[in-house]
Amino acid sequence: MPLSKIAGIGMYTPPNIVTNNDLMQYMDTSDEWIQERTGIQERRYAHRTEETTTTMAVEASKIAIERAGTTADEIDFIVFATLSPDYYFPGCGVLLQRAMKMKEIGALDIRNQCSGFLYAISVADQFIKTGMYKNILVVGSEKHSFGLDFSTRGRNISVIFGDGAGAVVLQPTEKENQGILSTHLHSDGESAELLAMYNPGTHANYWAAKNYADFSDEAIGDMFMSHQMIEKAQLYPYMDGQSVFKKAVVKFPEVIMEALHKNNLLPSDINMLIPHQANLRISQFVQQKLGLSNDQVYNNIQQYGNTTAASVPIALCEAWEKGKVKEGDLVCLAAFGSGFTWASALIKW
Ligand code: ACO
Repeated sequence: MPLSKIAGIGMYTPPNIVTNNDLMQYMDTSDEWIQERTGIQERRYAHRTEETTTTMAVEASKIAIERAGTTADEIDFIVFATLSPDYYFPGCGVLLQRAMKMKEIGALDIRNQCSGFLYAISVADQFIKTGMYKNILVVGSEKHSFGLDFSTRGRNISVIFGDGAGAVVLQPTEKENQGILSTHLHSDGESAELLAMYNPGTHANYWAAKNYADFSDEAIGDMFMSHQMIEKAQLYPYMDGQSVFKKAVVKFPEVIMEALHKNNLLPSDINMLIPHQANLRISQFVQQKLGLSNDQVYNNIQQYGNTTAASVPIALCEAWEKGKVKEGDLVCLAAFGSGFTWASALIKW
């Protein structure tokens, strides 16, 4: 059974840079608070009307496809991860297929938020291994800036997120000892409401009524969409940051160690860890816990913020472009986010 390799990788981030000081125009925050808590210095925001999650994905995909030495016409499957799709439905996969004038191939949309790209890679990997497809385009793209509360009320979330896209092309590898060694996917829905966007949705407060979750004031309403949702800012994401943080610092190391154990490897064998860029403090905690050096971990949240499904491919692409990921390296990808979901992948580059 052939392993799959990342044959080409690309990224796109919008040119519009938004600094922490820029955000102070809209909300009560400070560069000091944001940097101290998250490490973020700036992020990119897409053009409001001329860029979408899909158009950014197209730009990243073009680069990945070219670097893979193939063409859009040769792609035989799309896996698209995002939490900020252009439409509620259909998903961005078909919009990407249309925009890139691809053949009438399958297009799968993945809804696993910050773990989305790793879930997407894992699915694509299985299709390559079974021999069903030979050229799979895997994309993570987000246009968060269009759906955040930029008033002081939403500051704990809005300062964190940024826009951008990353893409890879997976192909079967011809070489021995190369490719995706294993992927590991997990979920625990117990805390689904701790990091969520409740509306618009079809829940009609079902989960709150069942007492499975304390929606507090964030999810009142039995309509798909209502004036109240707008007035009470219930159309924005909700996050209990501290709970997310506490779970993330446990699950990140756990899922990385799971991947290493599966392949009889140790943290010292990792050449480059690319953690989902949720918060620099989380990445630093994970690095310390695993005893990794600064050279073994790549972070770029300082420049891009948290780009959710796009963060792992953007960081991986940038690390590769800087020569920090080379042939023969052991690369570990890991993510944790809303769901909760978490995942890892171990790749011999
Ligand atoms: N600027 C200034 N003050 C702020 C801001 C801000 N942007 N945001 C919150 N505050 C204030 C709060 O109001 C609070 O004030 P108070 O003490 O007077 O009540 C104080 O700062 C502390 O707020 P906390 O929310 O407790 O701050 P915390 O230290 O937890 O940091 C943060 C918040 C950065 C969000 C952190 O909890 C975190 O990173 N959590 C993990 C996020 C994450 O990993 N998400 C997963 C990925 S996202 C996804 O999957 C979609």
